[in-house]
Amino acid sequence: MKPINVGLLGIGTVGGGTFRVLKRNKEEITRRAGREIAIVTVADKDVEKARAIVGDGVRVTADAFEVVRDPEIDIVVELIGGYTVARELVMAAIENKKHVVTANKALLALHGNDIFAAAQRNGVMVAFEAAVAGGVPIIKSLREGLTANHIEWIAGIINGTSNFILSQMRDRGASFEDALKEAQARGYAEADPTFDIEGIDAAHKLTIMSAIAFGIPMQFSKCYTEGISKLTREDIRYAEEFGYRIKLLGITRRRPEGVELRVHPTLVPARQLIANVEGVMNAILVKGDVVGPTLYYGAGAGAEPTASAVVADLVDVTRLHTVDPNNRVPHLAFQPDAVQDIPI
Ligand code: HSE
Repeated sequence: MKPINVGLLGIGTVGGGTFRVLKRNKEEITRRAGREIAIVTVADKDVEKARAIVGDGVRVTADAFEVVRDPEIDIVVELIGGYTVARELVMAAIENKKHVVTANKALLALHGNDIFAAAQRNGVMVAFEAAVAGGVPIIKSLREGLTANHIEWIAGIINGTSNFILSQMRDRGASFEDALKEAQARGYAEADPTFDIEGIDAAHKLTIMSAIAFGIPMQFSKCYTEGISKLTREDIRYAEEFGYRIKLLGITRRRPEGVELRVHPTLVPARQLIANVEGVMNAILVKGDVVGPTLYYGAGAGAEPTASAVVADLVDVTRLHTVDPNNRVPHLAFQPDAVQDIPI
C-alpha cells in the first residue's frame, strides 16, 4: 500500500522529535499503522535549519499555506504554535479535506469549538493527544479507556515547566529565575514562558480535558487561573515544615450547578502520590464512577515525549483513514496475531 503523506508545519523542538521518532521506529510504526507514514513536506520559516534536519528527499518550503493546499498531502501536522496563523492554517487544511494532528493546546482551548465543527462538516479528524501532558496518553485514556465512565473529576499536574521550577526550588534551593532558565534550555517552556508560570498553559490543557470528559464546549475564559510566579523559597519551605508540597494543580469537577475549572498552586499532603511527582513529569488523577480513581504519569514536555503523542495520533489517523483491502478493520493490526517474528 502506498504511504500516507504528511506535511509538517514547524520543525522546532517537537517537530524535530517527530521526524526522528518516525525514522528511528519506522518498522514498528508502519506495522502498527498498516502503512508507511511519510513526511513528504516540511514548512518552516527557517528553511536552512529545516533542510539540515530533514536532509534530502523531503521537500522544504517557507510557505505553510502551500502545504495545506497541496493535493498530495493527506495529514497536516501543525507544530507552529500560537493561535493566529496556526488557526488559519488548520482551518485551511480542514477545508481542503486534510486530517490534522496538532500539539497546539492554546489554539484548541480558544478556537476548538469552531475547529471541531469545521472538521465534522468536512469529514476529517483533528487529533491532539500531544496538546495535553506531552507523552502521557491522557486524551486517549479519557476517550477510549474510560469511555464507560461518568467522569466525576480530574486533578493533575499538567505543566512540566512549573513543576520543574518548583522541584528545583525545593531540592536545590534554586532561584525561580534560574530554574525557569533551565526549563527553557531543556525545551520544556512555551515560546512565551508567561503561559507556563502564570498557569495559562495548564488552563488550556484543563479546558481541553474538561471538554472531553464532560462533553461540553471549550470554556477557557471560565477557568480560574493563577500561576506560581509569586511563590518564594520560603513558601515552599514552610509548606514542607507542615507536611505539604506546593503543586500547581488543574482541577475540573462536575457539580450539580455546573462544571468547575481552576488552576492554582495547591498544598498537597506530602504522603500523596501526586505530591511526589518531580521535575518535568506530569500526573493526572481521573475519577470515574465505574472504575474509581485512576492515575496517569509521565513526561509532560520535551521533544521526544511530545513526539510520542504526535506519532500516536498519526498512527490513529492513518488506521482510520485507510480502507483495508481485505475488508479487515484496520485496528486488527493491533491484535497479537498480526505481530510476527518476535523471538520469545
Ligand atoms: N510548556 C509546556 C509544559 C509544554 O511545560 O508543560 C508541554 O505542553
